[in-house]
Amino acid sequence: MKIDMTRTGSRNGTISRHSSNSTSKLYFTFILLLLIFTPRVDSSWWYIGALGARVICDNIPGLVNKQRQLCQRHPDLMQSIGEGAKEWIRECQHQFRHHRWNCSTLDRDHTVFGRVMLRSSREAAFVYAISSAGVVYAITRACSQGDLKICSCDAQKRGQASDNRGEFDWGGCSDNINYGIKFTKTFVDAREKMVKDARALMNLHNNRCGRMAVKRFMKLECKCHGVSGSCALRTCWLAMSDFRRTGDYLRKKYNTAIEVTMNQDGTGFMVADKDFKGTTKNELVYVEKSPDYCLMDRAAGSLGTAGRVCNKSSRGTDSCEVMCCGRGYDTMRAKRVTKCECKFKWCCAVECKDCENTVDVHTCKPHRRPDWLDQTRR
Ligand SMILES: *[C@@H]1O[C@H](CO)[C@@H](O)[C@H](O)[C@H]1NC(C)=O
Ligand SMILES: *[C@@H]1O[C@H](CO)[C@@H](O)[C@H](O)[C@H]1NC(C)=O
Repeated sequence: MKIDMTRTGSRNGTISRHSSNSTSKLYFTFILLLLIFTPRVDSSWWYIGALGARVICDNIPGLVNKQRQLCQRHPDLMQSIGEGAKEWIRECQHQFRHHRWNCSTLDRDHTVFGRVMLRSSREAAFVYAISSAGVVYAITRACSQGDLKICSCDAQKRGQASDNRGEFDWGGCSDNINYGIKFTKTFVDAREKMVKDARALMNLHNNRCGRMAVKRFMKLECKCHGVSGSCALRTCWLAMSDFRRTGDYLRKKYNTAIEVTMNQDGTGFMVADKDFKGTTKNELVYVEKSPDYCLMDRAAGSLGTAGRVCNKSSRGTDSCEVMCCGRGYDTMRAKRVTKCECKFKWCCAVECKDCENTVDVHTCKPHRRPDWLDQTRR
């Protein structure tokens, strides 16, 4: 019996790796990504994006030497990282869609998330973690797909092994997560190794949490063979789960993130809460409290919540009280088209009608400060 064990790029439904036909878009993302790791640098480099990878590596002042070398040596890896960036930014925005800070990016702004990342806040902790996780994910996937010269499927997964269901043969292509983690650590952490301050320690810690989060959701996938699917023989491989699982996990870690302060000799940090028991090993850590993100504040990088949609019946972060910070909301009637009166048709389709109904949409009022409008116009 011949078994088709090739795993194609479509196994994570949401990914459309090759749909992008515009290279400029790709480099756009690529540059965005590189600048995530260089938030403390100001540079006007925007339009280099149209040039080739090598030129980009040479021209981005924000890259530390080590990153620049890696970039020049592995342009194909950089491309995977750039493509992956779209995905983790989208995941970040999904996780925070109901929050005042919603992980929005600034167009044409090299800092990507704006000045909000300058603060060593819980939000910064999350972004560093999910960006590292995103790089691990993107590189590991590219290795498995044979897109990269330097890595491929995990060659260690050979021969026999066993799990709680018994013995199996390693086969197919196991995701080479260890390579993904190793490269990510070298590339992403390089910048933080240059300085020794609380922020660098915080970033290193959260980067590591992000990398490990991907590994946590590796799963064994198997194919059965044997007489009429008896599953007497199994061929198995290790595969990463959908990135959503990593996103959900890190989002929980955001909720329980731990405030820390640097210790006296500057080699590590201590938990701010003296009663804290346990370890910060697998927790996100932050140094500064977050702003409330209620108002537009350019200096703090807060966009404010004016105009944000809120949910009148919710009691969570997307409720009108919380989202609008007590400023109140406006209500508009809007028409929505939904699928309705769906019927199952033999066989095998579901047919629906388009129904139109009106819904109330609530949006947060702006702050009454007179200069508010000026601040929002750019
Ligand atoms: C995120 O918040 C900003 C500022 O309030 C808003 O302009 C943007 O539309 C929001 N994005 C999403 C996806 O809700
Ligand atoms: C608003 O919140 C309620 C309660 O959490 C939820 O059931 C409902 O689906 C939400 N509506 C929208 C439009 O998100």
